Amino acid sequence: MKLWGGRFTKESDRLTEDFNASIAVDSRMYREDIAGSIAHAEMLAKQGIISAEEKEQIVAGLQEILAELEEGRLEFTVAAEDVHMNIETFLIAKIGEVGKKLHTARSRNDQVALDVRLYLREETGNIKGLILDLLHTLLNLATEHVDTTMPGYTHMQKAQPVTLAHHLLAYFEMLRRDAERLEDSVKRLNSMPLGSGALAGTGFNLDREFVKARLGFANITRNSLDAVSDRDFALEFCSFASILMMHLSRFSEELILWSSEEFGFIELDDAYTTGSSIMPQKKNPDLAELVRGKTGRVYGDLIALLTIMKALPLAYNKDLQEDKEALFDAIDTVKKCLMVYEPMLRTARFKAEKMLQGAKGGFTNATDLADYLACKGLPFRDAHAIVGRAVLHCIENSRVLEDISLEEYQQFSPLIEADIYAYLDIKACVERRSVPGGPAPAAVKQALQEAALWLESMR
Ligand code: ARG
Repeated sequence: MKLWGGRFTKESDRLTEDFNASIAVDSRMYREDIAGSIAHAEMLAKQGIISAEEKEQIVAGLQEILAELEEGRLEFTVAAEDVHMNIETFLIAKIGEVGKKLHTARSRNDQVALDVRLYLREETGNIKGLILDLLHTLLNLATEHVDTTMPGYTHMQKAQPVTLAHHLLAYFEMLRRDAERLEDSVKRLNSMPLGSGALAGTGFNLDREFVKARLGFANITRNSLDAVSDRDFALEFCSFASILMMHLSRFSEELILWSSEEFGFIELDDAYTTGSSIMPQKKNPDLAELVRGKTGRVYGDLIALLTIMKALPLAYNKDLQEDKEALFDAIDTVKKCLMVYEPMLRTARFKAEKMLQGAKGGFTNATDLADYLACKGLPFRDAHAIVGRAVLHCIENSRVLEDISLEEYQQFSPLIEADIYAYLDIKACVERRSVPGGPAPAAVKQALQEAALWLESMR
């Protein structure tokens, strides 16, 4: 008979049982479920709701169940529906009547809210670690490439020269925000829902603060109706995950472009690329592409969860059981992506010469020529127009700004003097942009120092 079977006169239909069961998805929370049950049993004994002897038996039974599950000696059943009732069933089978006391003053509704929070809290720590590993690698690469000049783009058109370090640090900033967003979400995740019961709390004299402390939570939830039906913490995680994946997807897009022969800025390591079953010459950036692709999947998880939650009346509704597939998929996907990203990036070969060559094309120093004229007192708008004509002249004659003669330059503007050639040198153009947050090696070195200190503070 089902644990809830008292008021039923018939067995569930097989289809009902299969359709209703969540064990295939929620079994991964067995450690959290057991930890929550042990804390609950200890509190029940402390409050005199069960005896010390009964508590001992329950805790010992749960610990044995945990060990047996870890060793693969126990099998979950669909008949017991979910992880909570599977474990309760194991307990009753193991210790008999006393096991039936565990569920006093508790509902699966507050139990599942607890388990998901505990599970997510653990994974949040793991994921933060993975982000920090990736940030560490970005920082190392940026430190190596402070002087590696490359073209910066807007609209995918060459714009102004930057450095590879600066470009990598842009991704550092994105992932830094992700790490901080994740950390911030823990404030709201870290509340203990047990004691909320099915929806209306309980008449038993529970010590919720004890359970909170025992399970390492910062707070207890403040409203029983909300506590059993709140999945904001899962939504916040999926939002965080979606933004993180968006960042990785943008980075992937660049790595893919840069790996093309047309760009030739990087070569990914053999270990993190794959070949073609028909074209023998191919070496494809599949991992970067998959990360880009899996971004859609994580967005899907967020949208699924938002849609599940939409218009749910208070309090618990079975719709909420669907939260875990989306949440777990987002957790798993983000972890896998971060895990492959770090070594893929660490082992990539950056082709500094190609990048410098790229920076020299596309008139990336045209703004500098206009700045040069503006420094000499010409209004920037006028300078812009003059340089525009000079660029057009170059395009028509297949030349670059650096090899226009001084005589020709003076026809564009008498303000242009012999120092213009040093001024237009691509490296000089980068070095000049030493404003805080700029790409100049001097500014980037400052940024690197700050980034290293911050990273240190996050560990
Ligand atoms: N398996 C359920 C879930 O994941 C546990 C809570 C079930 N509660 C209930 N009243 N049916 O949401």
